[in-house]
Amino acid sequence: MHSINSVFYPPIIAHRGASALAPENTAAAFRKAKALGAKWVELDVTLTKEGEVVVIHDDTLERTTNGVGRVIDHSYPFLKTLDAGSWFGKAFANQRLLSLVETLQLLEQEQLFANIEMKTVVGHEHSLAEQVIQKIQLQHMAPSALLLSSFSKKTLHYVRKLSPTSVLGFLMDEWSTEWKAFCAEINAYSVNLNHDVLSLDRVHALKAEQYRVTAYVVNDPIRAEILFSWGVDAVFSDCPTSMLSYLNVSPSAT
Ligand code: G3P
Ligand code: MG
Repeated sequence: MHSINSVFYPPIIAHRGASALAPENTAAAFRKAKALGAKWVELDVTLTKEGEVVVIHDDTLERTTNGVGRVIDHSYPFLKTLDAGSWFGKAFANQRLLSLVETLQLLEQEQLFANIEMKTVVGHEHSLAEQVIQKIQLQHMAPSALLLSSFSKKTLHYVRKLSPTSVLGFLMDEWSTEWKAFCAEINAYSVNLNHDVLSLDRVHALKAEQYRVTAYVVNDPIRAEILFSWGVDAVFSDCPTSMLSYLNVSPSAT
C-alpha cells in the first residue's frame, strides 16, 4: 500500500464507496469506485453487540438492510445474515454487511486508500477506538494507508492515545473555531468539513495551520472546482463518475 503522503489524487473520495451507483458501504460500492478510477473511498464504522466493528452509516438497520433495530443490539453473526443490497436494487441482493477486517482486506486487494469514519455510540467511544486500532494492527495495515476520522472528539482523543502514528481527521458539520485547539491537541492531519460551511477565508485559515482540507458531500463538478480553487484538497462524492470524468480521470483497466 502506498503512503498517505502521495495524498488525494485524484481529489475525489468516493463517499460510502460509489454510493450513487451501488449500495453504500458494501463491497459492490467500493469495487465500483475503484472501477471508475477513484483511489480513495470513505466508509463508516460502528460497533456490534459483542464489540465487532462493522461498516454501516446509520446506527439502526432499517434504511440500508432488511433488519430492524440498532446495530449495537445485534451480534455480528446475525448481522452477517442480513441483505444489505436489495434496498438499493435487486441486482445487489447478495451484498452483506462487511466487517472492518473484511473491508481492510478488500482495500488491500483493490489498492484503495480509505477514510474510515468512526460513528460512535455514546458511552462506547473507547471500545470503538480500541477495536478499530486493533483491527488495523492485526491486519498489518500501515497507519499511513488510512485516514481515521470522527465527529466525536472523545473517539479521536482515544485513537490518538492508543496510536500515536495514526493519521487523523476532525469532522465538522458546522463551523466553529474550536478546530484550532482541538486539531493541535490530537495532532490532526486533516479537517473534513461540510462544504456548505466553507469559504475562501476559512479554507485559508485551515491551510495556514498546515491541515489538509476535505469537503463533503459534493456531487456537482462546478462546486468542486470552486472548492479546489480555494485550496480544498479533496471532496467526498457519491457519484464519482461525473466528478472523475470532469477531471479527465479514466476508469480503471481492471
Ligand atoms: O466523512 C464525511 C461524511 O461521510 C460525513 O457525513 O453522515 O455522510 O457520514 P456522513
Ligand atoms: Mg461518513
